[in-house]
Amino acid sequence: MALVKSEKEIAILAEGGRRLAGIMRQVVEAVRPGVTTKELDTIAETLIISSGGTPSFKGYNAFGARIPYPASLCTSINDEVVHGIPSEKRVLQEGDIIGLDIGMKYEGLFTDMAVTVDAGYIDEASKKLIDTTRMALEKGIQAVRSGAHIGDIGEAVQACAEARGFGIVRELVGHGVGHAAHEDPEAPNFGKKGRGLKLLEGMVLALEPMVTAGKHQVFLAKDGWTWKTKDGSRAAHFEHTVAVTKNGARVLTE
Ligand code: MF3
Ligand code: CO
Repeated sequence: MALVKSEKEIAILAEGGRRLAGIMRQVVEAVRPGVTTKELDTIAETLIISSGGTPSFKGYNAFGARIPYPASLCTSINDEVVHGIPSEKRVLQEGDIIGLDIGMKYEGLFTDMAVTVDAGYIDEASKKLIDTTRMALEKGIQAVRSGAHIGDIGEAVQACAEARGFGIVRELVGHGVGHAAHEDPEAPNFGKKGRGLKLLEGMVLALEPMVTAGKHQVFLAKDGWTWKTKDGSRAAHFEHTVAVTKNGARVLTE
């Protein structure tokens, strides 16, 4: 499984990523108080299939989970960090924040993205958390170019979040993507400039900072999938699939 993708593969990933971003916009439009996370999953799955893709999360078995992931979308509310499972029993409330994470296989190749949005009115602290996480991803993306190191990305992301008083999750990391939902290399959201693998043109990475309003420690809930903050503080998550080029990152999921 070559980490470096061909121009032809990157063209397919870009088309899949463009479609995935359009799907995400439609899922986000459906977020409002009163909607269930199951309804959001159904919208996501229907749109993936009508776009000519396959949901890449559904049936995914990794991280030592007891059951394969049962949905096409991850829905993570408030103190849930990532991998929340959609349910008809989870109804969004005014003031909630929700992380939406979606992956699609399109013409044999995988892209992955996530955003965190509000359900109606949210407090200032939650707005700052969401804005900072989006900004941390942007800083990570700006650190990408051929010749840069994986640690350059981590340091940029971590510095952005911690400078604003937030925590960076360590237990889960970004990753290579393309031929599979998760590939090498790992792309931590923390680290030191100049350390780690040197990036080559044509590598494709899913960068995905997970930022906490309180302490950074997280734990895996009893359902075997949902990660939550230990201190019960809120968390946000943004993710893009990007290709490494000589001049920087090419964002594929927009
Ligand atoms: N975007 C997620 C990640 O990279 C994938 C969700 S795991 C799955 O960790 F099981 F839901 F697929
Ligand atoms: Co990912």
